[in-house]
Amino acid sequence: MRHRRVNSRGLTPFRSARQSNPFPWTVVTKGLMKLKGRTILITGGSAGIGLAFALKFAELGNEVIVTGRRQAVLDEVKAKHPKIHTIQSDVADPAQIVALAARVKAEFPRLDVLMNNAGIMLYKNLKAPAADLGGLTAEMNINVGGVIGMTSAFIDILTANRGTVINVSSALAFVPLPAAPIYCATKAAIHSYTQSLRFQLEETGVEVIELMPPAVKTDLAADLAEGDGITLMTTDELVKQSFASLKMGILEIRPGQAKQLAFMRRFAPDFINRQLWKASKKLVPVGVG
Ligand SMILES: NC(=O)c1ccc[n+]([C@@H]2O[C@H](COP(=O)([O-])OP(=O)(O)OC[C@H]3O[C@@H](n4cnc5c(N)ncnc54)[C@H](OP(=O)(O)O)[C@@H]3O)[C@@H](O)[C@H]2O)c1
Repeated sequence: MRHRRVNSRGLTPFRSARQSNPFPWTVVTKGLMKLKGRTILITGGSAGIGLAFALKFAELGNEVIVTGRRQAVLDEVKAKHPKIHTIQSDVADPAQIVALAARVKAEFPRLDVLMNNAGIMLYKNLKAPAADLGGLTAEMNINVGGVIGMTSAFIDILTANRGTVINVSSALAFVPLPAAPIYCATKAAIHSYTQSLRFQLEETGVEVIELMPPAVKTDLAADLAEGDGITLMTTDELVKQSFASLKMGILEIRPGQAKQLAFMRRFAPDFINRQLWKASKKLVPVGVG
């Protein structure tokens, strides 16, 4: 009789699922993320997409910790959702990452999911010199430095607990929205980094998932207007589609228009690039870099 190989969580190991993929050359392979009984840390979980995921994970029976920079916003989350743990921490500051890792490992030794979600998006005028060169790379420090730093600081506990990393990139990793040029570059970087991370962690039992949202109605996308081919998804719809994908074991989750952008990038790259330039041109700040 043939026995199915199982790991300590009673699941077929990640590698077996990959090996059973009949199309191993495709990007999306099978994962097996368990969706309850986990201890989950979500950076930037005090608002928008991070908060929506935090609430869904909590509803499913997970212990959830969220971070953010603004204590007042974290306090509001705590008051409304007492079960969610809140910790103030800035992912752009390596010293704060070190302190956060020490605290979480001590208080939540069962931590087994890290969702790297914190991010900002800025519109930039590349034709004018920037008034503040440091400010020019703020998105790099948060959206890229934060993900890399957090992953590194937590990799030991995630490996020990055979955990999961969920990196939130964007559909704009495929095709840039030229009004937000640095933001899109950070998301392309995270897309690449996440693929390397998945390969390097393949033998460790740590699963690496990438969530690539399309435009979503949050503060980050407040200036994006619907039209010119852009539609804005609600956080509820994003959570619904993303959890359906997680249940199917999809490792690179492309909800809504993210699928179309991935397709267009391959089959009509010039057309889609120009469409996004047309749609975002009016968002380029006038005069300032
Ligand atoms: N909305 C979209 O259309 C969209 C589309 C694709 C991808 N995404 C990605 O989804 C993620 C979440 O975006 P969102 O739309 O939910 O944005 P949001 O509504 O502006 O929320 C961002 C969250 O991140 C936190 N944050 C920002 N900088 C931080 C830092 N340095 N350290 C710790 N926390 C920080 C914010 O709290 P504080 O300000 O208090 O720190 C807030 O909780 C981002 O990575 C974004 O790039 C969004």
